[in-house]
Amino acid sequence: MNYPELRMRRLRKNRIIEDMVAETVLTPSNLILPLFFDENIDKDRPVASMPGVVNHPLKGYDAIGQGILGNGVRSVIVFGNPSKKDAKGSQAYAADGVSQKAIRGLKDNSDLYVIADLCMCEYTDHGHCGIVHDDVVDNDETLRMYGKIAVSQAEAGADMIAPSGMMDGQVGAIRKALDDAGFTDIPIMAYSAKYCSGFYGPFRDAVSSSFGGGSRSAYQMQWGNRREAMREIQLDIDEGADIIMVKPAMSYLDIIRDARERFDCPIAAYQVSGEYSMIQAAAANGWLDGDRVMMESLISIKRAGADIIITYFAEKAAKLMRGYI
Ligand code: PBG
Repeated sequence: MNYPELRMRRLRKNRIIEDMVAETVLTPSNLILPLFFDENIDKDRPVASMPGVVNHPLKGYDAIGQGILGNGVRSVIVFGNPSKKDAKGSQAYAADGVSQKAIRGLKDNSDLYVIADLCMCEYTDHGHCGIVHDDVVDNDETLRMYGKIAVSQAEAGADMIAPSGMMDGQVGAIRKALDDAGFTDIPIMAYSAKYCSGFYGPFRDAVSSSFGGGSRSAYQMQWGNRREAMREIQLDIDEGADIIMVKPAMSYLDIIRDARERFDCPIAAYQVSGEYSMIQAAAANGWLDGDRVMMESLISIKRAGADIIITYFAEKAAKLMRGYI
């Protein structure tokens, strides 16, 4: 059958029939909200380059937990900005470090599922994601630190550990450290295919990264490589990742799709700070409809094959969605 007998518009006539044939549906439970905690502040501090996002002081965490639950978002990923940064990033694994305190606070004061981002770049004075020797990030020494950080975050009550540093062997090292410490039930969400992206710019502002003009290209992936992403993901699965991640999301939808076709584990995608800020900036100028583009961007990431989306829009998108579900 073809036109004029077949008319595709029949199934687009109104919202009811459109919803009935919808192939991709987003729900608040698909979303993870990133939260920033900063030891250096005593009241919420807006992140200048991310309109709508704030840095929270540690004492605000109980109220935050309650607010998010109201919108149907049930999980968060925690980032910390410590008051002291040093070459070894020692606050990253301190029992009373900023992320450990934030995790413990969120767990004590809410029913949120709390994911710990695990990296050293917020904690080192040079801003790299690990221990630096002779200007090079020492992969294997960094793995030992990652193991300690993971255990400290699990001890603080984290429900899941998400290593984002792109060291080789990080998932295996963290799995072993967690298991040895008795945390066999804590899953790992691996930032597996993490590109060396310019879209992370506003995030570095949010965590006051002391990373100057340097580059993470010695450990994060180059933009053009698609097959390499599959190798990275395969390695992480082999090392014990429970969920794998592609990051950023919108410029890497093909990678999400490739991963979906190849792997059966849950796939997360991170709609990163720059993706968020571009939409917010254009909306603030009246150049596009912010709510509409927010939903379109999230649906497209899910359509590409992501089960889970980490997004700064989580609360806002969940609020809009609640009109539908
Ligand atoms: C830390 C980390 C980064 C992001 C998440 N974890 C920054 C980076 O690798 O430079 C980026 C998040 C965002 O841009 O929203 N390793």
